[in-house]
Amino acid sequence: MRKKIVAGNWKMNLNKSEAEILYNDLESKSYPDDVEAIIAPASIYLDSFSNASNVSISSQDVSANSNGAFTGEFSAEMLSSINLRFAIVGHSERRTFHKETDLLIFQKVEMLLKYGITPIFCCGESLLDRESKNHFNVVKSQLSQILSKLSSEEFSKIVIAYEPVWAIGTGLTADPEDAQEMHSFIRSLVFEAFGSEISELISILYGGSCKPSNAKELFSMDDIDGGLIGGASLDSESFEAIINSF
Ligand code: PGA
Repeated sequence: MRKKIVAGNWKMNLNKSEAEILYNDLESKSYPDDVEAIIAPASIYLDSFSNASNVSISSQDVSANSNGAFTGEFSAEMLSSINLRFAIVGHSERRTFHKETDLLIFQKVEMLLKYGITPIFCCGESLLDRESKNHFNVVKSQLSQILSKLSSEEFSKIVIAYEPVWAIGTGLTADPEDAQEMHSFIRSLVFEAFGSEISELISILYGGSCKPSNAKELFSMDDIDGGLIGGASLDSESFEAIINSF
């Protein structure tokens, strides 16, 4: 049985008191036993939420370096020292605004695995890629480093999030069938690289304008194991409804 996961990416939203209200709301709710609910608040709040028991806490990023003169960055070791279990890497906003490359993202994955933190590895094509029917190639190349360089044991610890860039924050959602097609393609790449045990085990989340009104249909697809939620994760009722959409 693959793990079902709903992760809320709060991005750069909410001041401290707003973040606390949302966190306390989410901590006080009850979720199905077979769904892992994760929230990824801005990094300055991570430590104060690290004792959460009902939701798991994720970072939105991590440094590819272990320590030293890297002003403004924080390391996987630091995340592990506050008992964090998850970190998002390779989000399209990091790829676009911070020019993150596949190699840099791979180095972040390695760093996280070294400290026992699960990377939530994001991939996804732009609208141009999809319109030019290049979307499978783009996603395959984004995954190529982790597929070719990690051991099967390392890869089995990863969560993948497929987020078509054109659907992020736009209100446009991939058709459940189109999303399923890409998720099944990703799983087939994992199968080719690591075999069926790992390809069947790995959770692949969908992200991009996922909300209470479309989550059920998306999550009912064979290869969609949950969601990475942006906007709709900033409202506790929406997020709860998405968690209850399996
Ligand atoms: P969205 O963001 O749900 O607001 O589209 C998803 C994400 O960027 O992870």
